[in-house]
Amino acid sequence: MLSISDIHAFYGETQVLFGVSIDVAQGEVVALLGPNGAGKTTTLRSILNLASVRSGRISFDGRNITQQPTHEIARAGIGWVPDDRRVFPTLTVETNLAIAKKRTRFRAWSERECFEIFTALEYLRWRECENLSGGEMQMVAISRALIGSPGLVLFDEPSQGLAPKVVHDVLRVIRRLKDERVSVLLVEQNPLAALGVSDRVYVMDKGRIVYHGEAAALRRDGALRQRLVGV
Ligand SMILES: Nc1ncnc2c1ncn2[C@@H]1O[C@H](COP(=O)(O)OP(=O)(O)OP(=O)(O)O)[C@@H](O)[C@H]1O
Ligand SMILES: [Mg+2]
Repeated sequence: MLSISDIHAFYGETQVLFGVSIDVAQGEVVALLGPNGAGKTTTLRSILNLASVRSGRISFDGRNITQQPTHEIARAGIGWVPDDRRVFPTLTVETNLAIAKKRTRFRAWSERECFEIFTALEYLRWRECENLSGGEMQMVAISRALIGSPGLVLFDEPSQGLAPKVVHDVLRVIRRLKDERVSVLLVEQNPLAALGVSDRVYVMDKGRIVYHGEAAALRRDGALRQRLVGV
């Protein structure tokens, strides 16, 4: 579904990614782990052409999307749940969802389904998003990604700052996406939570992939996990 092949990415003249390659199959959940500043967010931003990719290739759903306009990449069916959530603060929950609606060749998710996933949201539908808690905002951000009918969802630290119940809901959504054959690329600071829902895992450091393998191998091998991700 997604193939990132040997990309070198920059912010201005500063190189941040050095030959990163990542593949995500249809219906696969892939975790991307690594310390602060490793380049995880930049990898997601590179997929969306929000960082400058100077060499290498990115394809999605059989199509070359390298350096395509961001709105066209989104329209092809890539959903994004950014680390800062990016909802429209002065618009209501309902309007935030309505304007995220998009048709792609992938499964469409309705507002009703989002309210079934995040039951708290239904009662907040007329509330302006600036008056939501962090966890409620995250529910809106994830719902916006679903309503855009994605074939792949990029999650950037979705459980950061959330109560255990909301973290549980987020992990449940990721499992549900997998059941529906939607692909997921999951950046997480919480390696144990990420490994629990992932099929495969990549670890990056200083702009490079330093390990990739089956998530089950890291779940089993405490010493390897300790060395790679410190827990
Ligand atoms: N807009 C920017 N301009 C210049 N440098 C940037 C910019 N954004 C990030 N960087 C730098 O790029 C490197 C990778 O940052 P990135 O945000 O991708 O890391 P990360 O792995 O997501 O870290 P974290 O876990 O802290 O979110 C860091 O050295 C960071 O300082
Ligand atoms: Mg980041």
